[in-house]
Amino acid sequence: MASPFEAPATDTQLAGIPWESLSHIFMFGNGKGGVGKSSVSANAAGKAARSGLRTLIIDCNAQGNIARELGYKRAEWNDGGAGLIEALRTGAPLTPVENVRENLDVVLGGPALGDEFGIFFHTLLAKEGPHAYLRLLMCLLPIAHRYQIIILDTPPENPSLQRLALAAARWLVIPVKSDGGAEDGLAQIGLEFSYVKFVSHINPHIALLGVLLFDTGRNYSSIHADVRRQVQKVLGEEAHMFKHLIGHTESVARLVRKRGLLVHELADQRVAGDRSVPETVVGLDSDYEGFTEEMFARALELRKDAAA
Ligand SMILES: Nc1ncnc2c1ncn2[C@@H]1O[C@H](COP(=O)(O)OP(=O)(O)O)[C@@H](O)[C@H]1O
Ligand SMILES: [Mg+2]
Repeated sequence: MASPFEAPATDTQLAGIPWESLSHIFMFGNGKGGVGKSSVSANAAGKAARSGLRTLIIDCNAQGNIARELGYKRAEWNDGGAGLIEALRTGAPLTPVENVRENLDVVLGGPALGDEFGIFFHTLLAKEGPHAYLRLLMCLLPIAHRYQIIILDTPPENPSLQRLALAAARWLVIPVKSDGGAEDGLAQIGLEFSYVKFVSHINPHIALLGVLLFDTGRNYSSIHADVRRQVQKVLGEEAHMFKHLIGHTESVARLVRKRGLLVHELADQRVAGDRSVPETVVGLDSDYEGFTEEMFARALELRKDAAA
């Protein structure tokens, strides 16, 4: 007789997952903070939504930084991640806040993903083993078909939340800064990626889509070459660097969070004559446009290669 305490076999669960219909799920991850995960998640999702694609962001951060990017930090409907935790606890479908922007829904993050999540997940892990890492995917599955693009913003140095996201994602994108010391963050997310794909086989379909340079001078090509070497040293020769990068402009970055607006929304204000928006917004907006297009094009290309 099987023990009543035995965890369900991961393989049985895995067999029922329609991976082929989940190739629209992108995760931004890095073991280091401050490298652009939240900024790029919000702005890439914003670009997708603006181009007419039904888009979902899942904010997996206890800091809930997506709220700052989109300006709903103090909204009365911001539950600080309580709904997400409740879904994870019960296995119920995620309940996004709809139309935070046109075509853009958000599963809210926030403080509930701190200690409250830690205690709950510890228990789940003890009961289910690695299978517990599939919980976010299970909550996402019933609503995933409603979206053309799904973006997961993830925290640094929280292996449980990172693994939940890695188990749900088809593509991992790693933003990095060129300010040195990138190795630790890269090595950490690289290890978690390997755990999910090769060690536990929870998500054999995830692929590293590429590494994105964030907050850098556009013409510092020798620095960029140096970062590329660093990335390939840690993640392997085949690690892809995106051609587009996100340029440095602190004044726009500050205004984004002060006004709670996406970069393209600030660019619109500048075009409409608002001189308090720095001119550098135009370049940053075009960086996000270029990167988002490149990211989607590369995912399509890799998917075609995999199917061939
Ligand atoms: N283009 C930019 N140039 C300079 N700083 C930026 C730019 N975009 C965002 N920032 C700032 O960089 C910091 C880290 O970004 P964030 O997206 O929060 O990183 P992470 O999510 O990896 O912790 C934030 O303070 C943000 O305001
Ligand atoms: Mg963040």
